[in-house]
Amino acid sequence: MGRAFLYVILGGGVAAGYAALEFTRRGIGHGELCIISEEPVAPYERPALSKGFLLPEDPARLPSFHTCVGAHEERLTPKWYKEHGIELVLGTRVMSADVRRQTLLTSSGETISYKTLIIATGARALKLEEFGVMGSDAPNVCYLRNLADASRLVNVMQSAAGGKAVVIGGGYIGMECAASLVTNKISVTMVFPEEHIMARLFTPTIAAFYEDYYSSKGVEFIKGTVLSSLETNSLGQVVAVNLKDGRRLPADMVVVGIGIRPNTMLFEGQLTIDEKNGGIKVDAKMQTSNRSVYAVGDVASFPLPLLGSRNRRLEHVDCARKSAIHVVSSIMDPKDTGNFDYLPFFYSRVFTLSWQFYGDNAGEVVHFGDLSSFQGPFGAYWVNGKGQIVGAFLEGGSKDEYEAIARICRVQPVVGDRLDLASRGLEFAVSG
Ligand code: FDA
Ligand code: NAD
Repeated sequence: MGRAFLYVILGGGVAAGYAALEFTRRGIGHGELCIISEEPVAPYERPALSKGFLLPEDPARLPSFHTCVGAHEERLTPKWYKEHGIELVLGTRVMSADVRRQTLLTSSGETISYKTLIIATGARALKLEEFGVMGSDAPNVCYLRNLADASRLVNVMQSAAGGKAVVIGGGYIGMECAASLVTNKISVTMVFPEEHIMARLFTPTIAAFYEDYYSSKGVEFIKGTVLSSLETNSLGQVVAVNLKDGRRLPADMVVVGIGIRPNTMLFEGQLTIDEKNGGIKVDAKMQTSNRSVYAVGDVASFPLPLLGSRNRRLEHVDCARKSAIHVVSSIMDPKDTGNFDYLPFFYSRVFTLSWQFYGDNAGEVVHFGDLSSFQGPFGAYWVNGKGQIVGAFLEGGSKDEYEAIARICRVQPVVGDRLDLASRGLEFAVSG
């Protein structure tokens, strides 16, 4: 049994949704595009899972956050795909791929062939077992990558109401879930190995602001250690988390956010993999080492002009959206499509706080603004060895202010006096 399509998108997440919209804008015929996804629902805005989906009141539920609402575009419901003649093969895992034969074998035993393939398989959450700790399958241990995880997390939160949660990991999932748990009246202890939260992006100064804010909401931090085991009761539920430093933390539930790995497995040995950054290596058109195959989103390692076109893999929604739009342009209009000239953009919203970051967080850091109150706005610039601003972070900015820091990171002006930059702060970007 088998079907053939002109275009196949493997993976039905954020990138798939934005690519589908772009295909229809550029004009495709009915029956030309197929999306295959392991998830049982049409592509949706994954960021909603750690924010609106976890709210105690009036939580976001599908179909409200199908792509492409996150970029204020059309909302692509299953009906939309049908109307546009796009085949959605949902609840179906691709088990193997043969890039030479241009075929994919699905979990239902079907062989789907393509003329052009876009790999948009995203990433999987790392498991505790990969760090030598057992117990991920306990009923009150939660991960958060997809809708099924989020629904489970909501159920576990409800059964742990008024109780204690231990959050493992001080990254994005840890930060956003800790805030949601507190909002759901569950007390939180966060455990992570670094000296401060969000160590991949925040400076110690920026981290201190958020840690103080979280502490004011009752969150406790245990830094510089990791867990050694999960203690369970006779029902298999976790009742405590034991730490390497000897401490024992009683827990009604555990949330784990210890990073991700890109889903490259199907293509290892067939396409060039970027061993350093992880991910499938693509060029500035998002084309892999096979001319019929492209990759986008979390799974793709692409050249970043800001880094002198060295490859980087980004794990953020804006990159998934824009790389998806770019790949469709590369495929359908190769002559008029330039290189993917991407400016990294990350953001988060927790409690009533909200920040944005643009560019690269490398080099000397110049902080600005009021870090001592919970008011903001405050932020930081990153200045490279040539004295150019290459990155900027801002908490509590307005739309115009965020646009201004993005612009500065594109223009990369040379700055002289760092003290002057610190005192001019946001004004430097806004007036620049
Ligand atoms: P994505 O993970 O969205 O989709 C991959 C799809 O491929 C999934 O549907 C998966 O099931 C499917 N798939 C994988 N292997 C398959 C196979 N073999 N067969 C069939 N299907 C397969 N970013 C940000 O900038 N701001 C934010 O606030 C957030 N918030 C956030 C919250 C949470 C809870 C998560 C998990 C992530 C975020 N992110 C984020 C990150 C952002 O969501 C992420 O970068 C994008 O979803 C990446 O989009 P992709 O399409 O590449 O992968
Ligand atoms: P992360 O890389 O942001 O953070 C991982 C954290 O895990 C590290 O900060 C570290 O503290 C911790 N850690 C690593 N090994 C550990 C161990 N053995 N024990 C305890 N802690 C350990 O990853 P994440 O928070 O799991 O997020 C997963 C993905 O979801 C990322 O790609 C992220 O970009 C994405 N995401 C993004 C946003 C956003 O952009 N606002 C929000 C949610 C999720």
